[in-house]
Amino acid sequence: MKIIETLEKLGEIQGGSLVPTMGALHEGHASLIRAGAASDRPVLVTLFVNPTQFAPNEDFAKYPRTLDADLKIAEAAGASAVFVPSIEAIYPGGLANAASLAAQFSLPPIATAPRLEDAVRPTHFGGVCLVVSRLFDLCQPSLAYFGEKDFQQLRVITQMVEENSNRWKSLKIIPCATIREPDGLAMSSRNRYLDPSQRIAALGISRALQSVAHCSNVANGEALMRKILDQHGLETQYAVIRSEKTLCAPESGVKSARALIAAKLGAIRLIDNAIVGISTPNG
Ligand code: PAF
Repeated sequence: MKIIETLEKLGEIQGGSLVPTMGALHEGHASLIRAGAASDRPVLVTLFVNPTQFAPNEDFAKYPRTLDADLKIAEAAGASAVFVPSIEAIYPGGLANAASLAAQFSLPPIATAPRLEDAVRPTHFGGVCLVVSRLFDLCQPSLAYFGEKDFQQLRVITQMVEENSNRWKSLKIIPCATIREPDGLAMSSRNRYLDPSQRIAALGISRALQSVAHCSNVANGEALMRKILDQHGLETQYAVIRSEKTLCAPESGVKSARALIAAKLGAIRLIDNAIVGISTPNG
């Protein structure tokens, strides 16, 4: 596996499968890399903790940086190369300039309409779209892999690519299923912050999602999720059932939707989501 630190060396690996990450790799990332390797194209993993997607009050400085372990996980999962860029390589002209570019980024509607991550983290998707579009421009992938765990992010990036089909002509976004611990907790780089009692409480999120796996009334389903989160001592930021396509209210007559949760345990913020089968009371 090659380790690439400069833009000049990137040319050797263009046109393959891209797995963008912020490092602190876990089994969820490994599953994306394995999916990329199964495409029979070279897999490029990027490791870059992107400052522009963190608000000043968020955990950019504390975000786990585990380069040695990341390299081992990437190699074992089948990565051909890992790109570990400097801030200057991603943001020529420096961070002050990049932050203002992120604030002005022309976002696709799904980045601002649902009032989910966009409401809680208003500057987040500007930074995500800025860095991901820069990585697409630099790496020119044919396929790019994103986890369903960050479901709104996946939908934002998919819509950004659809809206820019002239810029990234043959690029396809590949969604990959959320990987869970055996007890149901979705894998996340932030899980390592949980102390033993918080780790137990965090199970409230997957339990709340399971409670609405089949649902006949959206408002009741949302109330049930909030109740379960509350019982586990989680502070709910949102617990909603939305259209999979728009992430706004489910269209009438749909048979499936998506439950999405963001909840906090102290300073630790966790998100997760799952499919909901919608059934009418009589049918
Ligand atoms: O999901 C992530 O880890 C990040 O948001 C991404 C897509 C790598 C952009 O920094």
